[in-house]
Amino acid sequence: MSVHTKPLIVVVGATSKQGRSVATSLLESGDFQVRALTRNSSSPQAQKLARAGAELLEVPLEPGHQNEFEQAFRSAEGAFLMTPPVSPPSTDEFTLGCELADAAVAADVAHIVFSTLENVDERSGGTKFAPHFTDKALVADHIRTLPITHTFVMLSFFYTNALEYYAPRIDGDTVVMPFYLPEDFRAPFVDPLTATGPAVREVLSNPHTYHGASLPIVGEVISPREMVDTFSRVTGLKAEYGDACSRERFVEFFPAFAANPLDVDEILGMAEYAVDFGYYSGDRDLQWSRSNNASTLTWEQFLRTTAWRGNRVSYRN
Ligand SMILES: NC(=O)c1ccc[n+]([C@@H]2O[C@H](COP(=O)([O-])OP(=O)(O)OC[C@H]3O[C@@H](n4cnc5c(N)ncnc54)[C@H](OP(=O)(O)O)[C@@H]3O)[C@@H](O)[C@H]2O)c1
Repeated sequence: MSVHTKPLIVVVGATSKQGRSVATSLLESGDFQVRALTRNSSSPQAQKLARAGAELLEVPLEPGHQNEFEQAFRSAEGAFLMTPPVSPPSTDEFTLGCELADAAVAADVAHIVFSTLENVDERSGGTKFAPHFTDKALVADHIRTLPITHTFVMLSFFYTNALEYYAPRIDGDTVVMPFYLPEDFRAPFVDPLTATGPAVREVLSNPHTYHGASLPIVGEVISPREMVDTFSRVTGLKAEYGDACSRERFVEFFPAFAANPLDVDEILGMAEYAVDFGYYSGDRDLQWSRSNNASTLTWEQFLRTTAWRGNRVSYRN
């Protein structure tokens, strides 16, 4: 197949953890061309994608740029759509997600894959506050009404959260790993950097098989206690669980979050939702991502692969 006949896939948020995984996986397969959307094509992550063979295109990733989105999707066969982190009270995530999907339709893209999550408002009867879940679910509802083949992927809690956002505190010789989940509560976790790409590549390779599907991407269902014990075994470091489940304890571990109390409400609301109702609704196929990609990393494999020892890590450029 000549390079010009390979289907073109537009990756929104191509330097994000999810987006770079998708772009890299598609390029490595040799079956697709990739147009990588970024706000800054000179960033190291964007340049890395260019070296891997992606076409870079600078586009803002915020609502109100419908024409630029539509131009960016022109001549694409498929698109991976994601929304960046948005803090409440902003509702930009819903608006942005809908605008991206509408632009894909306007540009005659055949198939979109949107990274969504469950509708927490609906599942909790309005008792839990997690707009970054619910807004994605509402975008998915909007996409279902559009004349376009579509598939949803639903990522688990990221392993990388512990490295990027909720880094451990070092107390003497002990690595204290804070979690907003109870010590023995098992939840689905995943490495977005290595798991998103293979899953989305499978979907984009078989659009009709997956039309309308909502597919969890899961590395391992594991409790904080098991994560801490595994960390200790793999690194040889003394480690313990830090209880960050209450507002007081959470802000004690992460004082910077106190600047926006709604952020804390959202994180704790999400955690309570996961505990009380389950991260995924009961009808989801939690085995799908592993059956499609047997090398999806467990927490132990993630630790061994990254050689992480409790330090803060930035995945930005
Ligand atoms: N953390 C979790 O456990 C988890 C689990 C499931 C789902 N999610 C969802 O995953 C999404 C985030 O994905 P990710 O972690 O892969 O993204 P990420 O690594 O945080 O990257 C986001 C990218 O979006 C672009 N961007 C545009 N506007 C931005 C803004 N206002 N702030 C930050 N980045 C912005 C940046 O790229 P350029 O600078 O190149 O434009 C950046 O590389 C969120 O919607 C979150 O709710 C998270």
